[in-house]
Amino acid sequence: MAARQFHLGWFLGNSFGVHGWSQPWSGVDAREWAQPDLHVELAKALERACFDCLLLEDSLFVPDNYGGSMDFYLKRALRAPKNDPLPLVPLIAQATRHLGIVPTISTSFYPPFLLARLIATLDLMSKGRVGCNFVTSTAERAAQNFGLDAHLEHDLRYEMADEFVALATKLWSSWEADAIVMDEKSGTFVDPAKVHAVDFKGRFFSSRGPLNTARPPQGRPVLVQAGGSPQGKAFAARHMDIVIAALGTVAEMKAFRDDMRARLSAEGRDPDSCKVLFVVSPTLGETNEEAEERVRRRKAQREAAPEITLAMMGSLTDIDFSTFDLDAPLAELTTNGQQGTLKRFLAQGRTLREVASNYSFGFEHAVAGTTRRVADVMEEAMERVGGDGFMFSGPLSRRYVAEITDGLVPELQRRGLVRTAYSHAHFRDNLFAF
Ligand SMILES: Cc1cc2nc3c(=O)[nH]c(=O)nc-3n(C[C@H](O)[C@H](O)[C@H](O)COP(=O)(O)O)c2cc1C
Repeated sequence: MAARQFHLGWFLGNSFGVHGWSQPWSGVDAREWAQPDLHVELAKALERACFDCLLLEDSLFVPDNYGGSMDFYLKRALRAPKNDPLPLVPLIAQATRHLGIVPTISTSFYPPFLLARLIATLDLMSKGRVGCNFVTSTAERAAQNFGLDAHLEHDLRYEMADEFVALATKLWSSWEADAIVMDEKSGTFVDPAKVHAVDFKGRFFSSRGPLNTARPPQGRPVLVQAGGSPQGKAFAARHMDIVIAALGTVAEMKAFRDDMRARLSAEGRDPDSCKVLFVVSPTLGETNEEAEERVRRRKAQREAAPEITLAMMGSLTDIDFSTFDLDAPLAELTTNGQQGTLKRFLAQGRTLREVASNYSFGFEHAVAGTTRRVADVMEEAMERVGGDGFMFSGPLSRRYVAEITDGLVPELQRRGLVRTAYSHAHFRDNLFAF
C-alpha cells in the first residue's frame, strides 16, 4: 500500500527583513532587502515543488533585549530593518497560481474589522489562496509601540485572540456565498437579503458589521497559529486549520500531535480538521559526509558566537541573557513572552553555553545528509507521528531553497510521499485533500 501523503509548507522567519547579510551564497540579497524579488522567487520555487503554503513571519518592534540596547541587533540586521510583509501577498499571488500565502497578524494590536477586511480582500484577489497566522505578539517593546506601558498578560492575550478570531469569522460570514447576483435585468448587483449585520459585543472587541466587502472565496481563509503553551494549544483547538510546532525529536512531535488531536476531539471537532505541521531545517549534501561537515561547521560557528543565539532568544522572551553566567547551571526562568519557545530552548542543555551551542529550531539535528537520507528520516518521522507534514525553515538563500525544492522534494515525490500536482483551486481544499 502506498505510504500516506503529507503536506509541505515554508516558514519564512524574518520574513520581509534582511536575509544573508555577511553570509556566503547570498549575492545581492542583503543589499536588496527592501525589494520583493527574493520572496517572489521563493514562492515560485515552492509552487514548482507543489508546496501547500508559504508563511510570512512578522514582528512589530526593534529589539533591545541583549545588553539593554538596540546596538547588537541593528548592527547585525537582526529582526530590523523589517518591512511589513502584507504588501508581499498580492505580488506573490500574481506570480503564482496555486500556492497558499499566509501573512502573520497580531491579535493584540490589529483591529479585527480591518484585519477581516484585509484578509477577505486578499482572498478575493488571489481567488482563494490566503491564510492568516495569528500571533498575540509577545514583546514588551511591541506593546509600547501601540501605546501600552507594559504588555498584556500572556493568558489574557489568548483570551483576546479567541474573541478576535470569533469576530473575524463572523465578519467573513456576514455576506452569504451567493449574495452577489450581478443581475442586469433587475438592476441588482448585491441581493440585500443576503448581507447581515453581526452585532458582535465582546469583552475586548465590538463590531456591528457587515463587512463592506464580499465573502472570501474560501468562506473562511485558512487559520494558522504556532503558540505552544497550553493556552496556545487551547486557542488552536477551538479555531485553527493549521498548527505549527518547532520540536526537536520525533517523540516530542508525536506527543504534540496526539495532544492536539485529543484537544480537538474535546472541542467537538474532527481531529483531522486541523493539520499539525512541524518545523524542519535540514542540511543537505551530495554525500552524507559533506552534509555532516556542514553541520559541524555550523555548530562551531554557534559555539564561537553564543551571543547571537542568546540575543535572538532574548528578543522572543524579553530576557536579557547578557546578564547571565554562561557556564552556571540553568535556573528556572519565566516570561510573559513566548512561553512554549522558552521552555523548549532551555531544555536543550544544562548551561546557557550548552543551550546556545546545541540550539536547533525544530527538527534539525536528525535531518542531515543526502536527499535520500533526509527523505528517509522525514518518511520515518511521519510514519511514527501519524501526520500531517512539515514546514521548512532555515536561513534563506537561493541555494538553500534549491536544495529543498529541486533536490529533496523530488526525492519525496518519487516515493509518493508528497503531491506532484495541485488538485484544487483553493488553498483550503488542497490542504484537506489528504
Ligand atoms: C514556528 C513558529 C513561528 C512563529 N511565528 C511568529 C511570528 O511570525 N510572529 C510572532 O509574533 N510570533 C510568532 N511565533 C510565536 C507564537 O505565535 C506565539 O505567540 C508564541 O509562541 C507565544 O505563545 P506560547 O506562549 O503559547 O508559546 C511563532 C512561534 C513558532 C513556534
